[in-house]
Amino acid sequence: MSDHANATLIRNGRVITAVDDYVADVLLKDGIVHTIGQHLEVGDDVQVVDATGLYVLPGGVDTHVHMENVVGPTMTCDTFASGTKAAAFGGTTTVVDFALQTAEDSPLGAIARAQRSAESQVNIDYGLHVIITRVDEQVLKDVRYAMHHEGVSSFKMFMAYPGVMMADDAAIFRMLRQVGADGGMLALHAENGTVIDLLIKEALAAGHTSPRYHEMTRPAIMEGEATHRGIRLAELAEAPIYFVHVSSNQALKHIVQARAEGIPVFAETCPHYLLFDKSVYNSDDFEIAKYVMTPPLRTNEDQKHLWRALRYDDLQVIATDHCPFCMKEGHLGFQKQKQMGKDDFSMIPNGAPGIETRLVSLFDIGVMKGKFSLNRFVELTATSPAKLFGLFPKKGTIAVGSDADVVLFNPAVTQTIRAQDLHSNVDYTLLEGRTLQGRVEKVFLRGHLIVDGKEWKGREGLGRFVPRGQVNAF
Ligand code: URP
Ligand code: ZN
Ligand code: ZN
Repeated sequence: MSDHANATLIRNGRVITAVDDYVADVLLKDGIVHTIGQHLEVGDDVQVVDATGLYVLPGGVDTHVHMENVVGPTMTCDTFASGTKAAAFGGTTTVVDFALQTAEDSPLGAIARAQRSAESQVNIDYGLHVIITRVDEQVLKDVRYAMHHEGVSSFKMFMAYPGVMMADDAAIFRMLRQVGADGGMLALHAENGTVIDLLIKEALAAGHTSPRYHEMTRPAIMEGEATHRGIRLAELAEAPIYFVHVSSNQALKHIVQARAEGIPVFAETCPHYLLFDKSVYNSDDFEIAKYVMTPPLRTNEDQKHLWRALRYDDLQVIATDHCPFCMKEGHLGFQKQKQMGKDDFSMIPNGAPGIETRLVSLFDIGVMKGKFSLNRFVELTATSPAKLFGLFPKKGTIAVGSDADVVLFNPAVTQTIRAQDLHSNVDYTLLEGRTLQGRVEKVFLRGHLIVDGKEWKGREGLGRFVPRGQVNAF
């Protein structure tokens, strides 16, 4: 496959962006959206795709995914190859993954390591956030260098997982000052790690080993406390801040208040917090380990607040936090992933899959159920994440000059989700057997047709690292 795809004319589709909705022809040429118009004339060398009745959407942008990420004692089961293929089938053409700064190395070493691994494997375009676990003067210099010279303008820190990833408040504050001053973004996992750790130890000491205790030891109030603390640190640092995987109103209410005060606070939620509530944990069957992600699922009341916030822009992004671990021991050679916690819930690797079902599930439960508009759907899944993480307007919209990352989406059909039909290495989907409205029909990455119905037309290594710029969200 050459670096430049042949030109393609997408004829008569309904072009939907965060702000537009019109029927037009879209010419993809030289890797970009070349022309948008009515009744475009093209030569015989241009492939024509009839998109009558289909939505023409910008390729999805998922800014929270974990491929080949070390999480506790194991590694997520998707490689860059399998995870990005699954993303593509789901209509996502850009992901931002994580590069982990280990105890010994610098953020720059972490970036180089992740790029080496991703380069030959990625099926779609990608960027990297660096997870910062240790801050000193050299780290801050490297962070600055990464922003100005490596195209890495966002970083993530954890207020949870003491002894593994957790950073203290001073380290977070120093990073906020540095990243904010240079126009970047600090993403924060907000949960009070030390209190949660105590609750886990107490539960285990009392003999409570079942996965249901994952939820009981991570109370929403401790997500709220950490979110409030993160906001105050950002306020003092005069820096923007982004909260990942917001699950509860305890966290959301602080975000809403801070935004009303004019503090640049941004946040995402994830499809699983909208699709499921904590009643799934009412079982002692180990099967519920499928739902062991952090933060855990919350109440139906929390979900109502999340929907409201998505509609009125207190939440700006829906990312997947795709963090897959196998349930079946030995599946595809992955030994003991969720099974690690068979006798101790705290040993279950935290995370759930969702990269391939993000767009269709949100179209079904969001747009079809009247929770938000079609334009807002695009904004939440493509445009806003692209803006917040320095990818816009190259990514996240359909406009002349933008990358030709385009999804043809059929709103008129239904599909029933089965893990066996999906492309991740993981052996389950939280949506098994669920029938959803809508289907991704074709996906173009920089003009290359990579998904054609059920057929894979892409190739590993076609994806590119996308150097990212400053936050563009004010
Ligand atoms: O359960 C989750 N979310 N696992 C991934 C690590 C994280 O906290 O994002
Ligand atoms: Zn997290
Ligand atoms: Zn995550």
